[in-house]
Amino acid sequence: MRIAVYPGSFDPITYGHLDVVSRAAAVFDRVVIGVLVNPAKGAPFFPTEERVKVIREAIGECCPADVAERVEVESFEGLTVDFCRRRKAGFVVRGLRAISDFESELQMAHTNRKLAPEVDTVFFMTALEHSYLSSSLVKEIAALGGNVDQMVPPSVAKRLAARGRGL
Ligand code: PNS
Repeated sequence: MRIAVYPGSFDPITYGHLDVVSRAAAVFDRVVIGVLVNPAKGAPFFPTEERVKVIREAIGECCPADVAERVEVESFEGLTVDFCRRRKAGFVVRGLRAISDFESELQMAHTNRKLAPEVDTVFFMTALEHSYLSSSLVKEIAALGGNVDQMVPPSVAKRLAARGRGL
């Protein structure tokens, strides 16, 4: 069984992330989306449990059943490679949107490989139509009243709108 962990902040998940999930599911038997509890970027906009819940809903909404049944979502703390070991995953999956992502992703891949030589990193090029997307931009647009329906799944758009209305 080829198991891959797709780690990230997913604050919130976008169609770009979901594209990477579908691509990874075409290659691996199981994809475990690992939601980092405390991203280095600072306090998350959505609490951990909400990010996990939203991703599960988004997978149900956007992925065909044969993909959805092979995708798990779990939060984790600590090192990504330790999470991989716990989940018996031999691979880390990451998406590359543009050349600007490459440098930090290369550094992370090399570091993870140094920490855990048995875990390899596999990159998927995010689909061109989603390559401009980032979670931070989505949050900014939603906060300023813009429409993010083409950027995030309905479960996320609904929550961003509710936050905007102070709910
Ligand atoms: O969605 P993000 O914020 O780009 O994801 C970054 C993430 C979660 C993959 C990275 O910060 C990470 O792996 N953090 C866990 C701590 C860790 O393992 N650090 C060493 C990685 S080189």
